[in-house]
Amino acid sequence: MDTAGNHWKVSRILTTTQPKENGPLDARVVVGLYHAHLEYKDQMALRDVNFTVENGEFLCLTGPSGAGKSSILRLIAMDARPTQGEVIVRGMMASKMNRRKIPQLRREIGFVFQDFRLLEDRTVESNVEFPQLVVGIGKAQMKKNIMRVLTQVGLWEKRHRYPRQLSGGEQQRVAIARAMVNSPKILLADEPTGNLDPVTAQDIINLLFRINDGGTCVVFSTHDHQIVKTFGQRVIVVDNGEIKSDIKRTGDTNRKASLADRMYRPEAPVRRPESESMHA
Ligand SMILES: Nc1ncnc2c1ncn2[C@@H]1O[C@H](COP(=O)(O)OP(=O)(O)OP(=O)(O)O)[C@@H](O)[C@H]1O
Ligand SMILES: [Mg+2]
Repeated sequence: MDTAGNHWKVSRILTTTQPKENGPLDARVVVGLYHAHLEYKDQMALRDVNFTVENGEFLCLTGPSGAGKSSILRLIAMDARPTQGEVIVRGMMASKMNRRKIPQLRREIGFVFQDFRLLEDRTVESNVEFPQLVVGIGKAQMKKNIMRVLTQVGLWEKRHRYPRQLSGGEQQRVAIARAMVNSPKILLADEPTGNLDPVTAQDIINLLFRINDGGTCVVFSTHDHQIVKTFGQRVIVVDNGEIKSDIKRTGDTNRKASLADRMYRPEAPVRRPESESMHA
């Protein structure tokens, strides 16, 4: 993948798919999949996937089971490399990814899973502390960060509890706080509402809205038709490893819920008007 030929191909892809006036590397684009294919040993999971995500966007991936939603998120997290094509995340190219760049990648991307994946033998506070130990932050700053994210998800009061002492929705909020503690530019969430009842699921979507309001780019996947139906932002439908549609909606149903939900964080910044969106 590191051949000179591949460099040429990538620069050609960039110049042919991005607006000319912004040059080949558009600073607004935080994630780009360019003719990305992903093949597992005996299984083609993604075929020629192309899309870019701009700074501050909120995007929902949907489609049937086995469609390739998790595979797309894995490519963005650089947990898998495309077998053909290129993935670029905040200027880091999958084809040139190496061990040295992993800490930077970990700071840029937060990841949330359907099954929470909290450390059961650690308190809420300690779970959230963990990713900061990996990137090496000073103790005082660490404490401030923990307070900030646990307040944001409404769980500061429960910081001394263990995961088993929390509801499913609360556990997912801890997982989101953990993903956000290093202030990533991108939050990825794979079926974050998959194990939750509809009301709690909406609560988590509202939290993702608030995180997006703070400027973080959010990409999540869901099977849930109700969430997709009311999601007033960009929806990409994946089926059989391919993108079937990529639509930016202008409705604002969930946004209203998000405003009502701001009791967790009354100082939440007011959302940018839809008219400022790049995908209007
Ligand atoms: N580690 C793997 N090895 C082999 N094949 C895999 C692997 N992971 C996923 N696949 C296959 O790749 C395809 C896409 O899977 P993926 O997990 O991305 O789908 P999905 O849309 O996330 O599905 P779900 O909604 O069930 O989570 C499926 O056919 C799946 O069987
Ligand atoms: Mg999946």
